[in-house]
Amino acid sequence: MSAHNPPAAGSPKKVRVHHLAEAKARGERITMLTAYDAVTAAIFDAAGLDLLLVGDSIGNVMHGHSSTIPVTVDDMIPPARAVARAAKRALVVVDLPFGSYEAGAQQALETGVRIFKETGAAAVKLEGGRRSVAQIRALTDAGIPVVGHLGYTPQSENLLGGPRVQGRGDEAVEALSADAKAVEEAGAIAVVLEMVPVDAAARITEILRIPTIGIGAGPACDGQVLVWTDMAGMTDWSPRFAKRYAELGAVLQRAAADYVEEVKEGSFPDEAHSFQK
Ligand code: KIV
Repeated sequence: MSAHNPPAAGSPKKVRVHHLAEAKARGERITMLTAYDAVTAAIFDAAGLDLLLVGDSIGNVMHGHSSTIPVTVDDMIPPARAVARAAKRALVVVDLPFGSYEAGAQQALETGVRIFKETGAAAVKLEGGRRSVAQIRALTDAGIPVVGHLGYTPQSENLLGGPRVQGRGDEAVEALSADAKAVEEAGAIAVVLEMVPVDAAARITEILRIPTIGIGAGPACDGQVLVWTDMAGMTDWSPRFAKRYAELGAVLQRAAADYVEEVKEGSFPDEAHSFQK
């Protein structure tokens, strides 16, 4: 990404909404990770991530819920504010949690405006295709950029029967493509495709002008997103599509265990970590 183009990974230039479609047009892949606090957001920003998602996966990852459904707008605001403060380059996207936009355009607008006013984020994300068109249009008309989310949509887990691949079979691919087109036409700036077969994701990526950002949707997507704790190996479990780039959970447990041992035996704090008069 040159001075005239979207910033490349590592470039200090701030990523803006228009850079996403430009990156797609040039065939340059877009990178996104979730972040829920200022420390990790600063690390990911320095690593060159294009987008940081304050996902409602915060419900599972940070609050210990078994789904995203209990997450509220009040839960989203402080982490979104912290991530937006820490991100010098990455564009920060905040999830609209379950129950904060489904009632219609007015409810979505009220939630989006509150998130924008109180966090400093640059875009919001919401789930659903044709059913969410009015909400996407209202937010976009008000100057709030929207990222769509199709395929497996965790807020509908009860309807979908849990985390299952979506878009298998010709009819399902047609429906998914129609949803993707509707989201684009309503003004979305990008669309997340979650747990979608490779061919279906490739077709949707081809028919859209806006970028697709895949999670369990194969390599043809214009970009990729992962939940950071899965990617970093923070827990024993991670979904099949989430490559573990590190084993930070084990590293952190070892560090904590060493600390416990040294405090118990009296070798910490030593002279180097103490003050003399
Ligand atoms: O909340 C989240 O982390 C997400 C990703 C799975 C895309 O929506």
